[in-house]
Amino acid sequence: MATVTFDKATRLYPGGERPAVDGLDLHIEDGEFLVLVGPSGCGKSTSLRMLAGLEEVTAGRIMIGDRDVTDMQPKDRDIAMVFQNYALYPHMTVADNMGFALKIAGTPKAEIRERVEEAARILDLTEYLERKPKALSGGQRQRVAMGRAIVRQPQVFLMDEPLSNLDAKLRVQTRTQIASLQRRLGVTTVYVTHDQTEALTMGDRIAVLKDGLLQQVGTPRDMYDTPANEFVAGFIGSPAMNIGKFHIEGDEAVHGDARIPLTRAVIDSLSGPAITVGFRPESLNVVAAGTPGAIPMSVDLVEELGSDAFVYGAVTGSAGADGKVGSGDDSNQCVVRVDPRDTPKIGDVLNVVVKPGELHLFDAATGERLAQ
Ligand SMILES: Nc1ncnc2c1ncn2[C@@H]1O[C@H](COP(=O)(O)OP(=O)(O)OP(=O)(O)O)[C@@H](O)[C@H]1O
Ligand SMILES: [Mg+2]
Repeated sequence: MATVTFDKATRLYPGGERPAVDGLDLHIEDGEFLVLVGPSGCGKSTSLRMLAGLEEVTAGRIMIGDRDVTDMQPKDRDIAMVFQNYALYPHMTVADNMGFALKIAGTPKAEIRERVEEAARILDLTEYLERKPKALSGGQRQRVAMGRAIVRQPQVFLMDEPLSNLDAKLRVQTRTQIASLQRRLGVTTVYVTHDQTEALTMGDRIAVLKDGLLQQVGTPRDMYDTPANEFVAGFIGSPAMNIGKFHIEGDEAVHGDARIPLTRAVIDSLSGPAITVGFRPESLNVVAAGTPGAIPMSVDLVEELGSDAFVYGAVTGSAGADGKVGSGDDSNQCVVRVDPRDTPKIGDVLNVVVKPGELHLFDAATGERLAQ
């Protein structure tokens, strides 16, 4: 087992204008499950492929344990990778698929058999060892792909969206299996996904990338409770945090009819005339109209989910010039989680206040989190 360190690792593709991964600094502990997450094109696969040795490192270095692997051949790095398209050899049995890399490496037959059987036990594949891949379900095939990595007993597992070929239900099952398997094996793992739910549920820590730049690294709780900037705030969490630009009037942040009191310290720390305010759907209490700090919303839609209900609405009195406050990209619709036994009607005005300690504030000019 081993630690992994990206030390200002940079990848500029030939002909590229800016690096696909730019000065990545990231230290992963021995045995840790680290999830690299971010939107499409942010540099997740490139980061993983640099670690695997499949992509040249333009600047900086990569360490596995105390070995500098920056210029080392992939086969010498002692890693095993599971890809999104984990094509299995269709004409080989499950056992031969799993043992193939060992056979190529010249491992004695008896040892291959032993390691394959052990991996099959761990993955609950023992009864399928003599089958061909076409006679397996999607989830079983995915486990065979995991098995191919496990039998190699590497120092580090690298996984690039290994669940994206599975349907939604199987994804949820399999992600739980992979996370518990990783904990059992204790092998340092770097796992790539664009799915923030996968990141939150699987990772010991999460690293969020955007445009090749690392935004924040932390535990799922850190990322959720104290996002370092507006991007992470909007990216982590489902339904997404309600976020919008407010202007300052006296000691309040104002947007339409919403007025949120701010401390002097927050106002003094702003670099410009505006502040970005964020509040999660579950961070709101319904209050009477006129309550200080209340955000009034006109109700457009009520979504009843049995255990929860979500109200979708727009902040009242907000002229177009104020910009948008909402959940998700470029949306002017806020989401509020309410008691499913006490839901408002469409067209009502719902007044909510942010629960103490659950207001997120960012400098509107830089997007950086403000201390409160
Ligand atoms: N071989 C290549 N040559 C040139 N540019 C590339 C190459 N591979 C990737 N890129 C670019 O580098 C950037 C990062 O790509 P990368 O594949 O790392 O993204 P990603 O985060 O894995 O995205 P996705 O979620 O879509 O898989 C993108 O802008 C992409 O177009
Ligand atoms: Mg990718």
